[in-house]
Amino acid sequence: MKNLNAKQAIGIFDSGLGGISVVRALINLLPHEHLIYFGDTARVPYGSKSKETVIRFSQQIASFLLEKKVKMIVVACNTASSVALEILQQEFDIPIVGVIDPGSRAAVKIAANKRIGVIGTSSTIRSGAYRSAIRALDPEIEVVDQACPLLVPLVEEDWPHDGVVKQVLDSYLKTFYQNKPDSLILGCTHYPYLKSIIREVMGPEVQLVDSGEETAADVEFLLSREGLLNPETGDPGRHKFYVSDFPQKFEETATRFLGRPLENLFKVELEVLEAYK
Ligand code: DGL
Repeated sequence: MKNLNAKQAIGIFDSGLGGISVVRALINLLPHEHLIYFGDTARVPYGSKSKETVIRFSQQIASFLLEKKVKMIVVACNTASSVALEILQQEFDIPIVGVIDPGSRAAVKIAANKRIGVIGTSSTIRSGAYRSAIRALDPEIEVVDQACPLLVPLVEEDWPHDGVVKQVLDSYLKTFYQNKPDSLILGCTHYPYLKSIIREVMGPEVQLVDSGEETAADVEFLLSREGLLNPETGDPGRHKFYVSDFPQKFEETATRFLGRPLENLFKVELEVLEAYK
């Protein structure tokens, strides 16, 4: 591994702004860490793209973040974590964590009846990444999964959490009604924003697992193990945001998601990004 030091930033990337849910979890847990976020707003959504395309986009973004001298990369996007994480870990010489393993581990810990539900984008569910991660931890666990492609646009549009959202959720989540799982993994960056209505629809007996929050805990563990946690002295962490398109729209929605204004927001031209291998 390269010469890494605690003062370097953590790089985080997502297909767009959904990964702000992971940024929020990281800021809450590790307020002294510097963060560099990349949201691929020009090429979102990843959830409906092929594996090959998502891998190529992820490689370009990881190279971009590496050039910014980050000490670690967090793949906040469930879709990218599902299909590209292993390849990135093989190709890049810094710690890289995804959201699938932390979310799966948390769900397995609370699977009293050995039944776990997973929701995600079409690509995430098609990849079977959560299913494999859960089965690797406990082969006896029954995994029921459901792709929910309409939820991302509903969250992006800030659609009110009743009426259409409730109807759409009802239609997707009825897969789980008959034989309720112990927990439901929110396997997409956008779903934590629907937590309260998902809880209402699923009922209080099903625990919701937020992969973003679990990942933040993993990042803390890993940084501390490697001696790379930024010491809790001095200034709070600085946060930089890069997007590949339409920073104004990103700023508006990210401010709403994060609950506070963005400090530094920059646009990276797509040609520049595509030049990274
Ligand atoms: N960030 C994606 C994920 O977590 C959702 C949005 C997209 O489809 O790109 O899977």
